[in-house]
Amino acid sequence: MSFAITDSVSWVGKIDWDLQKFHGEEYSTFKGTSYNAYLVRDEKTVLIDSVYRPYAAEFVENLKKTVDLDEIDYVVALHGEVDHSGALPELMKEIPDVPVYCSPQCVKSLKGQYHVDWNFVTVKTGDTLNIGKRTLSFISAPMLHWPDSMFCYMDVDNVLFSNDAFGHHLASDQMFNDLVDPCELMQQCIKYYANILTPFSALVERKIEEVVALDLPVDYIMPSHGVIWRDNPLQIVEKYMLWAQDYQERQVTVFYDSMWENTRLMAEAVAEGVRGERPDVAVKVMHAARRDKNEIITEIFKSAAVAAGCSTINKGILSGMTGVLEMIKGLGFKNKSAAAFGSYGWSGESVKILEDWLSESGFEIAAEGLKVNWTPDGEGLEECRKLGAELARKVSV
Ligand code: FEO
Repeated sequence: MSFAITDSVSWVGKIDWDLQKFHGEEYSTFKGTSYNAYLVRDEKTVLIDSVYRPYAAEFVENLKKTVDLDEIDYVVALHGEVDHSGALPELMKEIPDVPVYCSPQCVKSLKGQYHVDWNFVTVKTGDTLNIGKRTLSFISAPMLHWPDSMFCYMDVDNVLFSNDAFGHHLASDQMFNDLVDPCELMQQCIKYYANILTPFSALVERKIEEVVALDLPVDYIMPSHGVIWRDNPLQIVEKYMLWAQDYQERQVTVFYDSMWENTRLMAEAVAEGVRGERPDVAVKVMHAARRDKNEIITEIFKSAAVAAGCSTINKGILSGMTGVLEMIKGLGFKNKSAAAFGSYGWSGESVKILEDWLSESGFEIAAEGLKVNWTPDGEGLEECRKLGAELARKVSV
């Protein structure tokens, strides 16, 4: 399948309708995804990126239906991760001498993964490649989200090829942002940002400011996953600027795990406390072991405050919580308050463990952790409501 996007650009990627997990088992992709590769034709012909390795043979066969491979003058690899570079080894067997334009860090990652020595041409911000009427301008974008990441701007059609940035895991043959459900699209975008780009928010902000300062007209943003932004393409750039600045909505998220429902009762009472104090604040209650971890992270990203709850087991916490807490630690959320709670039978270490984890992860501890022995009674539930009210008072948006 190929798809003409502009007079010069064709989409030659792969829609992965059924993908449910990405980055190994780390990221849920309930809506599938796409690996977007683009073929640019001017006086020279350029392939920008490829697709995930399992689709390599299919990609090359399809590409042959769109272009004689011998007509490809340049390959551009904006990012070495396998979902975009995975078909290059198969392709480069057919066109081994074609120059591969990429960042120096991308050379390292491609060599490291595929043990190849292609005709690499390293480029950085300010370097250009004239292809006829059009010129490709490269923009290094390190850590958005790998050290090798790069953008490429093409004049005449005014396209920003942004690779992972501004992408989203959404499989659609509608191809363009104005043809898909805007709520679904934005939900996938914020999930992508929350789970992948949060640690690099300072760099996101600086890179966007740098690109905006170039004052380039942008009619299309063509990311490497999901649909192409053609209707008000800068709307996603504006969203990124918001999300990069310690984003908060008027929301509190309560996430927890519970052995025998006692900590669940506490979680729901904490949520009641939030609502009682601030009826205008949205509360999300999420069971950490039963709900999707990336969805929990997305809700935490949107929250001004969180409550983390867990029973005690073997002097520790339940395994359903550890995965979420480990993700939270790595993502480095800023400007969020937190409190811990949990029911226990005898030793009751879980609340302190949660509190330490939240504190080490950069959350401001808003209230002393709340431990309830066995099943919370009326008084215990009231303490939970007070904890929720305390968190609600931390919401300033
Ligand atoms: Fe879509 Fe960083 O790969």
